Amino acid sequence: MITSHFGLSGRPFGKDIPPGKLYLTNQHRSVLRKLEQTAAHGTHAALTGEVGVGKSTLLRALYDKLPGARHTCHYVGSDLPSRGILRAVARGLGLAPYWLRADLIVQVQRGVTDQFEKAGRRTLLTIDESHLLKYPVLEDLRLLTNFKVDSSPILSLLLVGQPPLRERLMFKAAEAIDQRLEVKLVFEPLSRQETGEYLRHHLDFAGATSPIFAGAAEDLVFERTQGIPRRINQLALQALELAAERGEQIVDERLVELAATLS
Ligand SMILES: Nc1ncnc2c1ncn2[C@@H]1O[C@H](COP(=O)(O)OP(=O)(O)O)[C@@H](O)[C@H]1O
Ligand SMILES: [Mg+2]
Repeated sequence: MITSHFGLSGRPFGKDIPPGKLYLTNQHRSVLRKLEQTAAHGTHAALTGEVGVGKSTLLRALYDKLPGARHTCHYVGSDLPSRGILRAVARGLGLAPYWLRADLIVQVQRGVTDQFEKAGRRTLLTIDESHLLKYPVLEDLRLLTNFKVDSSPILSLLLVGQPPLRERLMFKAAEAIDQRLEVKLVFEPLSRQETGEYLRHHLDFAGATSPIFAGAAEDLVFERTQGIPRRINQLALQALELAAERGEQIVDERLVELAATLS
């Protein structure tokens, strides 16, 4: 309905926007640069931000930028029981995981070292939704942060999660891993101006040839979503549906207001 009404080539505000076509602010570029450096130098980092702010999307952009000579392991915190991380990393390295924890650690260390020495690949281990990790898993991860070849670090750990991750890292039980995280980044929502650009960027990507949201409508989208991209997507789609139902070509603040009561 939206697509034909506004003469678009595809449904806007989708999740599948390719990494090269993302909307990037100065903040995105700066965070990406720091994460690339983390991966290149074998250091460790934490990235936190509100749900829907664009963390997982930024990871896709990071993977797209990393050189091919990189072994990347990506896991989601909710899927990792205690000890699960070591087994998962072993499997990611193409190994059949050993049973005992001490053996597993040695096995993973060898696997990561082999990647480096035989294939010239450093390892980047990313855990998305890290705020869900249990303390024993954080402790297992800490053990992985010591891997070095000739004193050069060969594994980078990147913890990505919602703000409670910051609080979890402040507890005594997480002190050891917290001390390893040299880089701590907080991802902030979009500003008012960026929210307008974001709306236009997604609509351009979907094939819009002229503006659809009025300036006052953009203001209201910002006010209602606080610049959180996932919320912007939902509200904008709802407002576009209403406009299409009513035969309107421009989304004004009245339609955004109505959409906000529905979404
Ligand atoms: N830089 C961006 N460019 C385009 N769309 C984005 C961008 N960041 C986020 N989005 C959109 O917002 C949605 C939510 O982002 P996501 O990365 O899943 O948030 P988080 O992981 O922080 O919860 C994505 O599905 C995507 O549609
Ligand atoms: Mg996410």
